[in-house]
Amino acid sequence: MNVPRTIEWIGDLNGHVRMIDQTLLPAELKFLECHDAGSVWEAIKVLRVRGAPAIGIAGAMGLVLGVREAEEGDQEAFFEKLREQRDYLAGARPTAVNLTWALDRMVAVANDCSAKGVAEIKAALLNEARRIRDEDAASCRAIGRLGAELIPDGGTVLTHCNAGSLATAEYGTALAGMYVAHEQGRRFKVYSCETRPLLQGSRLTAWELTQAGIEVITICDNMVGALMSEGRIDCVITGADRIAANGDTANKIGTYGIAVLADAHGIPFHIAAPASTFDLNCSSGSEIPLEQRSADEVRSLHGRPTAPPEVPVYNPAFDVTPARLIHSIVTDRGIIEPVSSEAIARILHST
Ligand code: MRU
Repeated sequence: MNVPRTIEWIGDLNGHVRMIDQTLLPAELKFLECHDAGSVWEAIKVLRVRGAPAIGIAGAMGLVLGVREAEEGDQEAFFEKLREQRDYLAGARPTAVNLTWALDRMVAVANDCSAKGVAEIKAALLNEARRIRDEDAASCRAIGRLGAELIPDGGTVLTHCNAGSLATAEYGTALAGMYVAHEQGRRFKVYSCETRPLLQGSRLTAWELTQAGIEVITICDNMVGALMSEGRIDCVITGADRIAANGDTANKIGTYGIAVLADAHGIPFHIAAPASTFDLNCSSGSEIPLEQRSADEVRSLHGRPTAPPEVPVYNPAFDVTPARLIHSIVTDRGIIEPVSSEAIARILHST
């Protein structure tokens, strides 16, 4: 792959987090160096780093930055700081469960080491943050091997938002199957929805697929129905931000509409996501918190007004696609098809 690492830790415990500033793409490929938890929080909040697995990794690395200055001698103060920084980072964005999943995994590691000194706990936290990144890269490869089977040779795939290398440690979820199919020499075409308001599809998916030499055509979000009725789409694959125990799936706003259109046209609609994106504490999609974002994201584009400044705006960042519209969920542990609570529980409890 030609795309550099989305996010990584540079150096030892005195080091820092380096991430691609995705708000600047595709015009500029620039790295952001984060030396404190505040700059990681800000990067997650304004989508310099985005995509469910990538913000989980950012959260874990941000937590290391948040506690590394804590005094060596005082365990109690260290754990208080850890809990405070965990809650602070978790508050950056609410929908992708990978953020709290990664932060809670970090806190659990610290708790397991509580008999050790603060310096050792800090070292264990850095190891764990790196492990979360590396495991995500491996999960994406596994998803890619299975997802490639969904890509018809000579066919077309539609995707929404960006669930690629930029949204993960590397390789992606929805795009992982495309990368593997491409490596296998299969020929196919990808339609990438623009994804208003923040254009993750046209800015990021089109960019990274082009870098990889995969044929990609960008369309406006409101063109999906027309393309499907013209027989131009063979299947849909998107990522996920949180999957409830019954398979209802939160993903970028617009995903639900695409799933309804796919159903109406008899086109299979697939989700690709790692085990860390499932939340069995949510029994259905109605329990998933959906982020509301600033009105200005809709009222303007690249700093220019696209609506009267005083017009009210509704701007949910995500929607929920009910499990009944999802043909399969491709995970790093296998494919869930048909989608049911039982099949999800079975795959998540397998190792
Ligand atoms: O608001 P974003 O850009 O973080 O939304 C991202 C998505 O909706 C992705 O499809 C999802 O996080 C999966 S990323 C592998």
